[in-house]
Amino acid sequence: MYPETRMTRSRRNPALARLSRETYLNINDLILPIFIIEGQKQKEQIPSMPSVFRYSIDLAVEKIKNINSKAILLFGVVGDEKKDNNASFAIDEKGLMPQAVKQIKKARPDIAVITDVCLCAYTDHGHCGLVDKNGKIENDKSLELLSKMALIHAKAGADMVAPSAMMDGQVHAIRKALDENGFEDTAIMSYAAKFASAFYGPFRDAANSSPKLGTRESYQISPANSREAMKDALLDEKEGVDWLMVKPALPYLDILKELKQNTRLPVAAYQVSGEYSMIKLASQQGILDEQKTATETVLSIKRAGADAIIAYYAEELIQWLGL
Ligand code: PBG
Repeated sequence: MYPETRMTRSRRNPALARLSRETYLNINDLILPIFIIEGQKQKEQIPSMPSVFRYSIDLAVEKIKNINSKAILLFGVVGDEKKDNNASFAIDEKGLMPQAVKQIKKARPDIAVITDVCLCAYTDHGHCGLVDKNGKIENDKSLELLSKMALIHAKAGADMVAPSAMMDGQVHAIRKALDENGFEDTAIMSYAAKFASAFYGPFRDAANSSPKLGTRESYQISPANSREAMKDALLDEKEGVDWLMVKPALPYLDILKELKQNTRLPVAAYQVSGEYSMIKLASQQGILDEQKTATETVLSIKRAGADAIIAYYAEELIQWLGL
């Protein structure tokens, strides 16, 4: 207690403060999300996410050749003409994702390629699973498609597949399909605790994946529920997942911390589109310091327990901090 104890003693100058610093960001912690579109020589600015683009495969390869991030998370984005009720383009062996993965792995075999496995960008209704004629999500039928999709990504060379549909049993179904087809070495990172969040708004614009009818609240977790999130995430562990993920990150640091304390698996956190755009737009308005705010938020996510952070700011952070 004061006056014997003075907390400021160990932080009163930079040399002492450095000694007692607890958390560091590391280049190996960061995963950069990348949006892939069809066509050639296409680079589209995403209006709701300034400085984030969608790239056709050729330009994505050019970009990825020069990135410093050691891991990427790929999202396929297709036009409405490729979407249908059954997300058939998601399971096309010659589809967008398998081609992208092949070419990216060829250009950069040294980086970890992770693929998002979800139907929402490929269904005409925009839901993450199949929907019956009454608008009800067909969980078990969706598992077949998600497993096929994951298997196609694995065949193309993905190091890890990341199911984000929040269907029950998706990790089990995907693990089984991968193992039965000789892909027992392909890892799975599940969006294990994925909340029904307003912070995905800009992403849905980026990925052209908004639900046309209804919401995702019947399958994503309510922001009010932490016990439910824990139970859901730990079920994925039982189903044989390799990595768990919490998403969004900053509003859910309590979940991240609790999950980290209750598993021995590595845990990732996703600083989602809305978290990114808030910082970006506020700093463009001169309201926040972009570099300091982005660094502080990602550092906080690490401090709360994330082993890896999926961040649209990954490349900037590496540059700003000299990682
Ligand atoms: C697909 C998916 C979403 C995000 C990642 N995968 C959107 C959603 O569930 O609506 C959000 C990522 C972001 O906001 O940056 N299901």
